[in-house]
Amino acid sequence: MIRLRRLRRTPALRALVREHQLRKEHLVQPAFVVERSSDAGPIASMPGISRLDVDQAVAEAQALHAIGIPAVLLFGIPARKDATGSANADPNGVVQRTIRGIKQAQPEMLVIADLCNCEYTDHGHCGLLDGRGNVDNDATVSFLSRVAVTYAQSGVDVIAPSDMMDGRVEAIRSALDAHGFTDVAILSYAAKYASAFYGPFREAAESAPAHGDRRSYQMDPPNVREALREIALDIEEGADAVMVKPGLPYLDVLRAARDAFDVPIAVYNVSGEYAMLKAAIAHGWLEERAIDEVLTAFVRAGADIVITYFAKEWATRNR
Ligand code: PBG
Repeated sequence: MIRLRRLRRTPALRALVREHQLRKEHLVQPAFVVERSSDAGPIASMPGISRLDVDQAVAEAQALHAIGIPAVLLFGIPARKDATGSANADPNGVVQRTIRGIKQAQPEMLVIADLCNCEYTDHGHCGLLDGRGNVDNDATVSFLSRVAVTYAQSGVDVIAPSDMMDGRVEAIRSALDAHGFTDVAILSYAAKYASAFYGPFREAAESAPAHGDRRSYQMDPPNVREALREIALDIEEGADAVMVKPGLPYLDVLRAARDAFDVPIAVYNVSGEYAMLKAAIAHGWLEERAIDEVLTAFVRAGADIVITYFAKEWATRNR
C-alpha cells in the first residue's frame, strides 16, 4: 500500500525529500534612501523598515553583506521634486551617491538601482507629462535612459526600470552600451501591475500620484497573456532578467512566466504584502513562519530572485 506519510515521519526525512528551498543567496533587500537626513526614520505602514540617509544606507548594505544577503535594490527620495524629476539625472543625486558609497565600502555587494521617475516628480507619475497631463512615453524613455547612464557611471551592477513605458529596455541598453557600460545588467519590471499593494511604498517614497492613477502604463490585474507579451518584448529588447510584481496575488503569472521563458525571473514581494503579514503577526493572528511559507511559495512558483522587505530578518533568523 502506498503511504505518503512514511516520508513525513521525521525532520530528516522531510528535509531529504524537500523539493524547494529558499536560499539567502537569492534574496534582494529593498532600501529607501533620502537625500535630506532629516527625512530619515521609520515608515509607519512598514514596521521594521526605515528611510535611510546615504551614510546609513551604506552601513546597511555592509550589514546585509555580513549576513549573506547579496544585493540591495535602491530607491531614492530627493530633497526637491519638480515636474520633470530633474534630480534623478543629477550625477550627485541621492542614488548616485549611495551607489558610489556602497561600492567603495563593500565592492562585492550587488547594487541594483530602481529606475523610475515617480519618487522625483512633484506630480508623482512615473514619467514626464505632455501638455494634457498624460504620461509621455517616448520623452520618458529618453530621460530615463540618461538617468541610467548616471547610475552606471556611479558603479551600479544592475538597472531595474520600473516605469512601464514601452521600448525602454532597448533604449536603456543602447544608452548604456554607447557609453561603454556593456557589463551593466538590466532587470526589467516586465509584468508590473497597477496594484493596490503598493500603498505603503508610496507613503515611504512620497510618490502617490497627485492626480489620476497608473493604470495607463501599469498592467491591468486580470491579464496574464498580456504579461507574457510584456516579458517576451523585454527579453527581445535585451533584458537580462525580468520581474513579476506584486508577488503573492500574481503567483499564477510567475508560474506562467517560468514555464514560457528561460531567462532568470525575479518576483517582488511588495510593500503591501509586507505590511499585511507584519500587521497580522504583530496582532498575534499569524505565526512568524507564515513569512517562510510565503517566501518559499515564490521559489516553488519558479522565481530565481526574490525581492522582499523580509530579506534581512529572514536571513538573520535562518543563519
Ligand atoms: C516605482 C516603484 C513602485 C514600487 C517599486 N517601484 C511604486 C509604484 O509603481 O507605484 C512598489 C514597490 C512596493 O510596493 O514595495 N514605480
